[in-house]
Amino acid sequence: MFYGGDYNPEQWPEEVWDDDVELMREAGVTAVTVGVFAWSHLEPEEGVYDFGWLDRVLDRLHAGGIGVVLATPTASPPPWFTLAHPAGLPVNADGVRLTHGSRDTYCVSSRPYRAAARRIAGELGRRYAHHPAVAMWHVHNEYGTDCRCDLTAEAFRSWLAKRHGSLEALNEAWTTAFWSQRYSDWAQIMPPRATQYLPNPAQVLDFRRFLSDEMLGAFVEQRDLLRSVNPSIPITTNFVQGGWVSVDHARWAAEVDIVAVDHYPDSADIAAEEETAFAGDLARSWGGGRWLLMETAPNLIYTRGRMHAKEPGRMTRHSLGYVARGSAGAMYFQWRQPLGGAELFHSAMVPHAGPDSPVFREATSLGRILAALPGLDAGSPAAEVAVTWDAPSWWALQGAGLPSAGIDYLAAVRQAHRALYRAGVATDFVFPGLPLDLARHRMVVVPHLYLVSAEAAAAFRDFVASGGTLVLGPLSGIAEPSARVLPGGYPAAFREISGVRVTEWHPLDPASPVTLDDGGTARGWSERVELTGATARARYAGGVLAGEPAITRHDFGDGTCWYVSAGLDDDGWERLLRAVAAEAGISAVLEGVPPGVEAVRRGPLLFLLNHNPSAVTVPLPEPAVDVLTGSSVAAGAAVGVAAGGVAILDCQGWKARR
Ligand code: GLA
Repeated sequence: MFYGGDYNPEQWPEEVWDDDVELMREAGVTAVTVGVFAWSHLEPEEGVYDFGWLDRVLDRLHAGGIGVVLATPTASPPPWFTLAHPAGLPVNADGVRLTHGSRDTYCVSSRPYRAAARRIAGELGRRYAHHPAVAMWHVHNEYGTDCRCDLTAEAFRSWLAKRHGSLEALNEAWTTAFWSQRYSDWAQIMPPRATQYLPNPAQVLDFRRFLSDEMLGAFVEQRDLLRSVNPSIPITTNFVQGGWVSVDHARWAAEVDIVAVDHYPDSADIAAEEETAFAGDLARSWGGGRWLLMETAPNLIYTRGRMHAKEPGRMTRHSLGYVARGSAGAMYFQWRQPLGGAELFHSAMVPHAGPDSPVFREATSLGRILAALPGLDAGSPAAEVAVTWDAPSWWALQGAGLPSAGIDYLAAVRQAHRALYRAGVATDFVFPGLPLDLARHRMVVVPHLYLVSAEAAAAFRDFVASGGTLVLGPLSGIAEPSARVLPGGYPAAFREISGVRVTEWHPLDPASPVTLDDGGTARGWSERVELTGATARARYAGGVLAGEPAITRHDFGDGTCWYVSAGLDDDGWERLLRAVAAEAGISAVLEGVPPGVEAVRRGPLLFLLNHNPSAVTVPLPEPAVDVLTGSSVAAGAAVGVAAGGVAILDCQGWKARR
């Protein structure tokens, strides 16, 4: 179990370091991430290195029994870099070249930046790849910057030439006949830059794909350098999810030894627990079961407009929630709260108040809990239900020129996951941008899968034909991966399996929802649906579509395809997915779980996370052993879980349950 956080000894005098190691031991910390933003300390002048301090830090940590996740510092080039290599700085869409003063100020396509990054990563590799403290390499930090400079333009053109093969093919894929954008020379193609009106959506989408591949290339360069020195040390980079991040993590996952994820829920209510479950399931699915929570906030979280202190027990619950979903540990940003710098009030395991503080006490108790867990295998994805995740569809649906400003890919996927979470059903994610293997799953939910390749459409068809249950949400199967619309009626790629043909979209004013005749509500979105084989399970009960199908069901081959044309609210999705799952014979992880309690299986362990402010009891169908107290729980007996608390039960011998 990795337990610890980002550790920045370069921000502190050396006498604090001994105190740090002492406190880490007290808290049960097993590993810390060192060096993430330490470039200006490691290479104070170009080509001049100072590793003495890092030697002393690593030796001290090792002597204290603390492992090191050693970072390459390439997410923040030092000020000397700016002056020596102005071409290594990013240029934004308005043509403004940025300068140092923050972090992430570099252009990933610039040769001087890449050379400088390789150099410092290579030096670190040579010096530390055999240091006994080093347990893992952490390349860079949260890849996700964006640059539109001339060097980027050149790299973009080469990438496009490989993707499209010819200018003709690119002109076709980008529909450049629209608004006289036809390119007659590769040199005419630019990254999306400030322009007069709406940009070409296919150009914007390809640019985001390009950025993802370009950054992956930068990662792979460093990874291969480090691997060549000592192949036995696992190498990762921490993924961050955000609408601005042009990284297709599902693709990147194949290039890291273990998926590592930073996750910061931005809600203070139950939505934070739902987000945690969402992030954990997504990370586990990216990693094929193997992943590590590399960063989260131990205490104060940024909610919209203000910081929110986690209530007692919440740090523990969140952390164990990630572990229950397969994380190889719980790591935080950060170990010690800094006295200055841009994130000076970001929470830490050792806050400004020092170790005599609720957060440090909770960190210490969590350290004991993690140490008490038996050795766990990777959290193998074992769910029968999966939700689709597709970064390019997200990017395409962030574009301008769409039929509603209310379209929100991330919100739609989270809503589908939330409905399954509330129904207590274990959920994986699958990635239609990669070769799809749906054989493990019995039910797949497809929210807003706007772009779909012929291969993915065929995989969904086979899935349904051979007995699977597919639930299609609106805005799915609309366009080819290039973003060109598939004609003939939506959901084009899925018309045959869904047995419906959508002839018109009717985006709704979110303030004026429309009721359905099953008691549900359509908010924000509705569609005119023609039945071409499906039967209506709910119809619009008001508005211009009154009497028209809203939710449909279609038997296709041995399986079933549902189509949801309406922007259902949370209750509607939960009701529908509960019913569909029940029909498909899929049950909850544990029956009889009180509301607000989460039951998650990881191998032989059952985690019960009580998010309620009051204690609950949960009946167990078979005998188990409480891992934290050592007491046995008989079959049919109820296990008590304290208010905001967690119970972890060893369920070895239980018949297979998901
Ligand atoms: C990210 C970064 C950290 C820190 C945190 C703050 O995850 O990796 O360096 O900035 O955000 O939440």
